[in-house]
Amino acid sequence: MQDRYGHRISYLRVSITDRCNERCTYCMPQELQEWLPRAEILSFEETLRLIRVAADLGVSKVRITGGEPLTRRDVINFVSRIPKTRGITSIGLSTNGTLLAREIAPGKTMAGALRAAGVESVNVSLDTLDRSVYSQITGRDFHEQVLRGIDAAIAAGFDQIKLNAVLMRGRNEDQLVPLTEFAASRGLILRFIEMMPVSTTEVLDDKNFMPVREAKRMIESRYGALIPEAEFRTNGPATYYQIPGRRQRIGFIGAMTNLHFCESCNKLRLTCDGKLRPCLGSYLEFDIMKPLRAGASDQELKQFFLDVVDRKPEQHDFRENYQPNRRMIAIGG
Ligand SMILES: C[S@@+](CC[C@H](N)C(=O)[O-])C[C@H]1O[C@@H](n2cnc3c(N)ncnc32)[C@H](O)[C@@H]1O
Ligand code: SF4
Repeated sequence: MQDRYGHRISYLRVSITDRCNERCTYCMPQELQEWLPRAEILSFEETLRLIRVAADLGVSKVRITGGEPLTRRDVINFVSRIPKTRGITSIGLSTNGTLLAREIAPGKTMAGALRAAGVESVNVSLDTLDRSVYSQITGRDFHEQVLRGIDAAIAAGFDQIKLNAVLMRGRNEDQLVPLTEFAASRGLILRFIEMMPVSTTEVLDDKNFMPVREAKRMIESRYGALIPEAEFRTNGPATYYQIPGRRQRIGFIGAMTNLHFCESCNKLRLTCDGKLRPCLGSYLEFDIMKPLRAGASDQELKQFFLDVVDRKPEQHDFRENYQPNRRMIAIGG
């Protein structure tokens, strides 16, 4: 699948739930409690069919996200069926980490079960090492659980574990170095992410926004000039660097300030309520659940994907004062 701007679509992000056990200020307002009714959420069977259709069109990498994907019942069983899809060569999962260390059978953690089910890479959100700041940001006192979750992920032996930290001025700028040291001590890739306007607007104003170039400067003032790693890419839009004098890689995701951000975009998103979104930062979404439930053939669903990809914009419109009509949690970040 290729869009009219030459983006080759090989990566499908699949949100399997709008629910979450945390309430991060930049993602989901505290007061929000209404979840989508079960009937409006794609069943795992339906989701697997859409993954199969996407794989037939050239998608090779899938990332499972949410909401918090590990809150959905039977997630392990679902994930274990993805590797059987012809064409899918890589499975990742994004999580807040709170449930990774949970024992789901004697001696078996959720992280271990995910690894055994075929997940290769895990992204864990961690914005701070300060427990009370963590509670303020996420609305929950789960910091300890997340740290245990990260250790469980390491023990599970994933090919790659990344830590994602959203940059917030006045909240976690003093955490850039501690997070870097933490990632180094565990051999993990750390990435700093610019806050995007995907939730209620009050936390997303200039006062709280911190550009990645400023985070990079702060890291450099501690460690020296970062060494660009132009050759290293995961499937996302991060720019990676080595810290001089040590084998540690860190990444920056500057959706708001990096003007070339969209050039290498290879993504399509499937929301948990069956909408295909060609771009996170645009209003465009297309309801594939309707034809799916109306009995569309694989061929018709393929055409649906192709039509959506054809509508993929050249760039996101975050910079043009984008006011989203859906929360990130429903879109699947
Ligand atoms: C929506 S979450 C879903 C997966 C999981 N619950 C988690 O927290 O990792 C995926 C990623 O989006 C990020 N995110 C959420 N809201 C954001 C915002 N307004 N700006 C930038 N990143 C955001 C989170 O920090 C997380 O790394
Ligand atoms: S960022 Fe992840 S953990 Fe935080 S509220 Fe959103 S979905 Fe939940």
